Amino acid sequence: MKGNDIRRDRKKEHIEYFLKSSYKNRTLFEDIYIEHNSLPELDLDEIDTKTEFLGKRVDFPIMINAMTGGSEISWEINRYLSQIGRKYGIPMALGSQTIALRDKTSQASFKIVRDIIGEDGVVIANLSGHASPEEAKYAIDMVNADGIQIHLNPAQELVMEEGDRNFKGILKNIEKIVTSIEKPLIVKEVGFGISKAVAEKLYNVGVRYIDVSGQGGTNFIEIEDRRNNKRDYRDLYSWGIPTALSLIQCTSIGGDLKLISSGGIKNSLDILKSLVIGAHMVGISGMLLRKLMEEGYEAADKYMGELTLKLKILMLLTGSRRVEELKRLPYKVKGELKDLLE
Ligand SMILES: Cc1cc2nc3c(=O)[nH]c(=O)nc-3n(C[C@H](O)[C@H](O)[C@H](O)COP(=O)(O)O)c2cc1C
Repeated sequence: MKGNDIRRDRKKEHIEYFLKSSYKNRTLFEDIYIEHNSLPELDLDEIDTKTEFLGKRVDFPIMINAMTGGSEISWEINRYLSQIGRKYGIPMALGSQTIALRDKTSQASFKIVRDIIGEDGVVIANLSGHASPEEAKYAIDMVNADGIQIHLNPAQELVMEEGDRNFKGILKNIEKIVTSIEKPLIVKEVGFGISKAVAEKLYNVGVRYIDVSGQGGTNFIEIEDRRNNKRDYRDLYSWGIPTALSLIQCTSIGGDLKLISSGGIKNSLDILKSLVIGAHMVGISGMLLRKLMEEGYEAADKYMGELTLKLKILMLLTGSRRVEELKRLPYKVKGELKDLLE
């Protein structure tokens, strides 16, 4: 099989084995406590969830994070996901466009996202840390993207039978991309979290957006293990940095670093907590994909509708009229998260 055929099949298998995966790690959002305000002096109608992201206004600090593209099923999934993105006025990231760098026929499954979201919406390109600056520009131009995600996924690659084994030179490469493209660059993990030390290295080469994509949701060690019959990787399923821990540690870098919280975001409380502990945006992948694939478009739409409504409710219950006010709310840390932060 040629490289792109393998890639296309792998994309389909990721969805298939993602739906079969079941191992549960914790995000540690459950260890964050935020106080209730019974005198908020606010009207639900005046709660303003709008925020700015990659130079555009978006209706909620929630985004549909990178998942798919490249195959026929991806076209269909991206069509439904972008309809949700458009309806709720939220950003959407594409799955890795590596396949579309060489296979022009696969580009339609990515371009459909911009067609549906429209020019006013936020669409984010996606490539790996091995991409060249020219490839990054090409991926951005393909969908007139507002920014590009570069994913770091060594844990996934190492468990993947056909995956990469050499991770040298990626930081230098990211520096080359960030200094040669005009659009913002987001570095993201894929579910294993970004440590403060790694975030500092990225910040020092010019990266200003980091999506921690931590542990507690989609688990690519399990997904790749299920695709691969040769070895048994079950003992590694608990590997990674819980999302809440990764986020709190990275916020201490400060400066003009903008953090995106993702990895195991399930409900509006996870979103609220992410924003209170310092995230600028919150990404969801697995929960939305599962709704769509197992229960259909209407269930996925309803899920997003409830997330947005409950975020408004929680903002009111913390006395916060605007998203920026959430960052100033006090919070307490307990349990395992507290131990890990000490
Ligand atoms: C089926 C599937 C495919 C994914 N493909 C990509 C990808 O191509 N590029 C990428 O950066 N992340 C990819 N991800 C990772 C997500 O963007 C996200 O970082 C991760 O799933 C953790 O978030 P979650 O727990 O909400 O799913 C994929 C996730 C899923 C579920």
